[in-house]
Parts: sequence; structure tokens; C-alpha cells
Amino acid sequence: LANGIGTTPPMGWNSWNHFNCLIDEKVIRETADALVSSGLSKLGYTYVNIDDCWAEIARDDKGNLVAKKSTFPSGIKALADYVHSKGLKLGIYSDAGYFTCSKKMPGSLGREEQDAQTFASWGIDYLKYDNCHNDGSKPTKRYPVMTRALMKAGRPIFFSLCEWGDLHPALWGAQVGNSWRTTGDINDSWDSMITKADMNEFYADLARPGGWNDPDMLEVGNGGMTKHEYIVHFSLWAISKAPLLLGCDVRHVTKEIMEIIANDEVIAVNQDPLGVQAKKVRMEGDLEIWAGPLSEYRVAVVLLNRGPVRNAITAYWEDIGIPQHSLAEARDLWEHNTLKTKFVGNLTATVNPHACKLYVLKPIA
Ligand code: GLA
Repeated sequence: LANGIGTTPPMGWNSWNHFNCLIDEKVIRETADALVSSGLSKLGYTYVNIDDCWAEIARDDKGNLVAKKSTFPSGIKALADYVHSKGLKLGIYSDAGYFTCSKKMPGSLGREEQDAQTFASWGIDYLKYDNCHNDGSKPTKRYPVMTRALMKAGRPIFFSLCEWGDLHPALWGAQVGNSWRTTGDINDSWDSMITKADMNEFYADLARPGGWNDPDMLEVGNGGMTKHEYIVHFSLWAISKAPLLLGCDVRHVTKEIMEIIANDEVIAVNQDPLGVQAKKVRMEGDLEIWAGPLSEYRVAVVLLNRGPVRNAITAYWEDIGIPQHSLAEARDLWEHNTLKTKFVGNLTATVNPHACKLYVLKPIA
């Protein structure tokens, strides 16, 4: 969407994956504090996004949405002011239907302009717009109404379409929003994560600065996968130019998890100004190569082992878009190490089960 935002994939945090409906203003404030004190905000994680369940089920007598008194007593404007005072941005959630997915709060269908104005007046910077309990009309009819309402509200608001991929939003999303879900909801397991990555890859050609494919939010740090599976999760999201929205409790992050989500070299791949989503360029059973171009003629490559046994994986220049006879330098982004050997034509590495390697290759001759 040509609203000047989302020129690189959004980064930050969202409440849903860890907290579901158990949110309140204290959690949101403490999360903002933790993003700053941990150094994560400096790495780019600046959106603090409230998901479902923040509002009263009833609107006020003027039809305005009202923050839930028992959990957000200070109101959303005060929260936005707080989050902004820390140099962060506040995101909120609504739905292109009569209720949100939890059914615990109203949706914005038929109230788009009023709600967009409410969000703008509160200082909201990001809207996730879900698709539950709608009137049965097509999302291509309901979503653009909110797009126009946001434009009219006069505040730059990142617009995230949460349509779950049913009507292939990658095909129409770029005129409507800044990102669009290509999948149903992720859960904190290897199978779910890898399935979402696959489904999202299908639409790789349709991502671009200002409009990103969204395979759903990160589960890194929620406990359901091994360290190496989380490294795969983060690597695939990074090269797929997916939104990097943390879904764990960032107030309590272990050192091991912090080393994953705070890997500045992997984040730089996600935030590369070229904004081209990586694709699967070779599949041999459980072994896969994912690759995509970066600025300055570099290429990001993931060697992925989806299977149960350790195996050697080779990336060929012709598959990943490096001229056949080029000599390339390889930077291992998880080892933080530039390999001494230079490579011509291909690069091979041994990869553990449910693990990956992530390299940036730079042609030097
Ligand atoms: C849907 C969305 C999720 C989350 C929940 C909230 O399932 O896809 O990401 O927002 O609704 O109820």
C-alpha cells in the first residue's frame, strides 16, 4: 500500500501467541520497557502490538470502541503516549466483521471510518485487521473500506490484513494493505512452523517494499521447539521478508533465545533495502535450498535439513543466482564467521536434523 510505511518488513511484538486474551495494560507497558532495556528496540523491534480482547463488548453511546475497563483502565491513548515516550510504536487489532475472532469485542464492519478515526486520535501506528464473524461478503469488498478509512484518518498506520490466505490476498493485498497473512494460525511446533513457511513461499514473487507476505507471527521463545528449530524458524522468516513480530514474553527471555532474536546479521537480511523474498530453489527429499538476492549483488542462502538425519547439502550458483564462474565469500550468520575458504560454483555444508545454515554470499571476482 502506497502509504509510505512498511518499506522494510515490520518488526516488533504482538500479544497473541503467548498471552491470547490474557492481556492488560501492565503487560503492554512492561513489554515496551523490556524491548528497550534488552536492546531489542535498537535492533528494530519497535511495534508493540495489542491483539484481540482489548475492548469492551459494548461500544459507548456514540458508537465508539472503548478499552476494557477492567484490564485497560487508563485507556489506549495513555498507553500510546507511554509507548511513544519510549521511542516505540503502538499497534492495535480489529476485525472486518461484527465481532473479533474471540467474540469478546466488536469488529469494525460498518464502522470503519469511525474506528479508523478513533485509532488515529489515540495515536495508533499499526492495525491488524482480522476476518472473523463477517457478513459473508468477499474480503476484497470489506478490507478496502478500512484502507480508505485509514487514509482519511490522516495518520500513517501500517495496515496488516489478517485474512488467512483463503482468497489469495497476495494477489490483491498490495493495493489494500502493507502485509497480508498467507496462512492460518501458526502454533508453537515444528510441523506448524514449516508448513506456514512453505505456504508463504508459494507467493514469493508478490512481496515487495510496502507489501509483504505474512506467514504469521514468531513462536521463538515459547518453548515448543528446540533451539535449532527456532533458528530455522527465525532464518526462514528473515529471508522470506516476513514481519518479525516476536510472540514470546519478552520480559523473560533466556540468553539462548536472545541470541536468536537479537542476531543483527539475520535481522539485516530481513531488513535489506532490496526487499526481495527468498524462494525454494532446490528440493531433494528432506534437503532444501532457499535463496534470495540482497543489495550489493549479495545472496542470502538457507541450507535446510527437514529430515531426521544429518546430511550434506550443496548450494549451486546456478540455482541461487550467482554467475557460474564467480568466486564468492561466505558469511555464516549464525556462527558470525566469514569462512576462510572462497567458493566457486557451489558451497557444501553438513546440516543437522531440523536445522539449517544461513549464509550471505558475496561475489568478489
Ligand atoms: C485469528 C488470527 C490470530 C489472532 C486471533 C485472535 O485467529 O488469525 O492471529 O489474532 O484471531 O482472536
